[in-house]
Amino acid sequence: MDSITNSRVALAFSGGLDTTVCVPLLEEEYGYDEVIGVTVDVGQPPAEFDEAEATATTLGLEHHVIDAKDAFADLCLDAIEANAMFQGYPLGTALARPIIAEAILDVAIDSGCSALAHGCTGKGNDQLRFEAIWRQSDLEVIAPVRELGLTREWEIEYAADRDLPVEAGQGGEWSIDQNLWSRSVEGGDLEDPAVRPPESIYEWTDHGEGEDELTVAFEAGRPVAIDGSEMSPVTLIEQLNERAGAFGVGRTDMMEDRVLGLKVRENYEHPAATVLLTAHRDLESLVLTKEVQRVKGDLEREWAELAYRGLLFSPLATAIESFVEETQASVTGTVTLSLQSGSCRPVARASPHAVYSESMASFDTADVGSITQADATGVAKYHGLQDRLANRETFATLHQGD
Ligand code: ARG
Repeated sequence: MDSITNSRVALAFSGGLDTTVCVPLLEEEYGYDEVIGVTVDVGQPPAEFDEAEATATTLGLEHHVIDAKDAFADLCLDAIEANAMFQGYPLGTALARPIIAEAILDVAIDSGCSALAHGCTGKGNDQLRFEAIWRQSDLEVIAPVRELGLTREWEIEYAADRDLPVEAGQGGEWSIDQNLWSRSVEGGDLEDPAVRPPESIYEWTDHGEGEDELTVAFEAGRPVAIDGSEMSPVTLIEQLNERAGAFGVGRTDMMEDRVLGLKVRENYEHPAATVLLTAHRDLESLVLTKEVQRVKGDLEREWAELAYRGLLFSPLATAIESFVEETQASVTGTVTLSLQSGSCRPVARASPHAVYSESMASFDTADVGSITQADATGVAKYHGLQDRLANRETFATLHQGD
């Protein structure tokens, strides 16, 4: 049958309300002969795959599940090399979307689809992130929820009319997006920024008693081991989420500025990301010069902004990545962190490439190598010269009566 089908569309499919109603709509409203559903595994909870599978089966939907966890973990570690933070939180959803979009595009091309579809609304960032990737191809891009102006109520009614397999009370109280790297919780009563979230929104972070201490080893900017045991990026991230989450590390409650300009109240959990960002930054402070750190800091903000907007394929992102890569050769060593009451604090660091000399900095020795303390006298005399000249009159007035 497939060979005589002339129009197939690949749908980013989660089995939730939005993507479920998209299936009949793509056939009826857009005239496609066949919809195929693609679910990409970036570390969502297993129940989400069960839901997607069950819904696909009931709908009679050809369903592909693609494991992209390794590719996603790799991108998360690129974000660590770039110390990427967007408005103060480690990116999560934004990093996952291009990975998902690319995997779906591959399936679409392999299965002879002429179009791609997603269930994003016209208000969020994800529509932009998906389409930035997809529109690089010449496949048609369809966004039924946005284009048909669908609301949640309309979708619920439509699903009931059509007897579509959507669970009662679809979606629960909040809208949650969870992957290997982060959990995002938004919507419902959290839309009021003045409402303090109930403890029940948190699943990864807890109030562990006491303190834990762990050591992360890095090789050329990549975390490779915890407490001396080497592990794959996926396992390392999973283990750090567990260990740091137990001590409440990695919670963010913030107002975020979406790409379109809308502000949104967001709550995030990201224990592993917080540990790795803290450790990586600390190690860089030991091995990178002050100037490299300063310029890298400026570029990091640019990279994070591009990542947030889903534009990591841009020439600017690629150029920044080359710079970052160049700086990471010496980012090898270990950082020990203390985890306690929601805080993650570096307490020790070591590297064979430290730009640091204990004997030079020490209070116990008089001289810095062959440079004597007295050599600093000339520097001290010149230090602030222009500022002193600029303030001459003020200084004179102030001390007139002295
Ligand atoms: N605002 C964040 C972003 O655009 C996260 C959105 C996650 N979606 C959700 N339904 N919780 O990256």
